[in-house]
Amino acid sequence: MKVLVVGAGAREHAICNVLKDDVDLYSYISKKNPGISKISTYHIGDEGEVDKVAEFAKENNIEIGIIGPEAPLGKGIVDKLESIGVKCVGPTKSAARIETDKSFMRNLFEKYNIEGSLTYKVFDNTKDLNEFLDSYDKDVVVKPVGLTGGKGVKIVGDHLKDNQEAKEYASEVIDNAMGGFAQVIIEERVIGEEYTIQAFSDGTHLAPMPAAQDHPHAFENDKGAITGGMGSYSDVGGLLPFLSQEDYDKSVKIMKEVIKAIAKEAEPYKGILYGQFMLSADGPRLIEFNARFGDPEAMNVLPLMKTPMINVCKAIVEGNLDKVEFKNLASVCKYIVPKGYPETEHGQEPIEVDEESIKNLGADVFYASVSEDNDQIILSSSRALGIVAQGESIFEAEKIAEEACSYVKGNVYHRSDVGTKSLVDKRVKHMNEILNN
Ligand code: GLY
Repeated sequence: MKVLVVGAGAREHAICNVLKDDVDLYSYISKKNPGISKISTYHIGDEGEVDKVAEFAKENNIEIGIIGPEAPLGKGIVDKLESIGVKCVGPTKSAARIETDKSFMRNLFEKYNIEGSLTYKVFDNTKDLNEFLDSYDKDVVVKPVGLTGGKGVKIVGDHLKDNQEAKEYASEVIDNAMGGFAQVIIEERVIGEEYTIQAFSDGTHLAPMPAAQDHPHAFENDKGAITGGMGSYSDVGGLLPFLSQEDYDKSVKIMKEVIKAIAKEAEPYKGILYGQFMLSADGPRLIEFNARFGDPEAMNVLPLMKTPMINVCKAIVEGNLDKVEFKNLASVCKYIVPKGYPETEHGQEPIEVDEESIKNLGADVFYASVSEDNDQIILSSSRALGIVAQGESIFEAEKIAEEACSYVKGNVYHRSDVGTKSLVDKRVKHMNEILNN
């Protein structure tokens, strides 16, 4: 079967890796990913130019398209591919609004009475915005309504000093129509531990994956700027050390209700639904949805799949998705980034990746924002590669991943605390404090 994966990052490398032995694999990539280019027939081009992606798919008689990043979904890549007969793992433009239009997402919770939402308001003018923030006595989160490549959300107590600073930033969001809407969402800031649940959906049925926890802060001990994610872990049993089966099940229930609501309000949602939750004193609260796999979280769950990915993709497009099985192992992913990231001066420098030694340890390499020049791997200013290992416990997987990171040489950095006992214990303690208060 001919399958096309769209997207050039580590997430897409991980998707390609679980397909490569079972399909005739094609990729459409914005730059030459050293991993994807070795295991697929690739074309380099702008993934957002949906007509060109469709032309490539047609020329190569592609049967299934899998869309990695959110931006092409927002441009209607699935609508375009389906119009030429290519079935897709990825939602249509209208169903992808669950990620591309945050006000659509919050309204769904309200209209369909779905649990786990939070206090929010959408503003399109600074007068109402300022009045609201002057009278609101809790910390808030400011979110552009549309896509901003993960850079638009600002949190009081993290990026913003107080609700006064939130006012200034929120006005900027409206004035500059950041994310494509002259609107802003103000949400209550929920305190707790964040976690991710990803699920496959065929529009009606939902098959959830093991939970994972990302580490967005750039530096150890959760210091520094918020990034796309510096690493993540998942645990045996599909739960997390601070997440009970009951809270996992409640989160999945929220996701199932959202899938039903999207089918009524838009179109059946086929693809991957990524739920970012906060476990709070009041249980799981939905922070946001993405219409794709998480990055790095895809690298935790995809290598654990027991059910072949191609069977899952066929079931999604045919509408007969059933349970998806995963190995009962823990996993740890550590992202290697240029030193100083996200404010790095080391973009464009070469690095050495000893893939063979990493493989000998039982770990995997998934390439992200690097390029290849005369067999040399060249950094960019963004995340370079994910190193992923599995084990009987998070800590066993962590040891392997950490050792594997030492086989990447150059001006690079990674968070060596991701998946360590001390950091995981800190998360559990934090959650216990919240629950016992
Ligand atoms: N890990 C965050 C994201 O994929 O959006």
